[in-house]
Amino acid sequence: MKITQILLAEHVVFHNLFDHIEKSAPKLKTLAEIKSQAATLETLLRAHSETEDELFVAPLEHCFEQIGHRETFHDEHEEIDGTLLGVQKARELKKARTLLLSAVAASRKHFDKEARIVFPLAERILKAETLKALGAAWMKRREAALK
Ligand SMILES: [Fe+2]
Ligand SMILES: [Fe+2]
Repeated sequence: MKITQILLAEHVVFHNLFDHIEKSAPKLKTLAEIKSQAATLETLLRAHSETEDELFVAPLEHCFEQIGHRETFHDEHEEIDGTLLGVQKARELKKARTLLLSAVAASRKHFDKEARIVFPLAERILKAETLKALGAAWMKRREAALK
């Protein structure tokens, strides 16, 4: 499987999680519950973003430079992560919820940009074998993480 297909499949799972958080977070009554949702999202997003950063950004770096996206791709990962870490530091329910929902909104926007711009760019620039080799590298890493 190509790495782009794998990452897009992961996006589908995340969209389900985003839907769930957007629906449930406004009803949560304690800071601890909001923090728990943020921690779950942060943990899952970290694995996804690290894969993108490590397997994907390096081979495409020269293209990102051409379209002026070199910094944004990685920066957006850090920004979203920073917002989610901010949830853990929040002392008020309202503030924590606002941060959590803004991280979800930023993630949706980021994922959309990847699906519209970054992944098609990768499909155009990289050879199918390279995309498949990156997919195999992802699979190997996942197997190692499960051991
Ligand atoms: Fe990403
Ligand atoms: Fe992504």
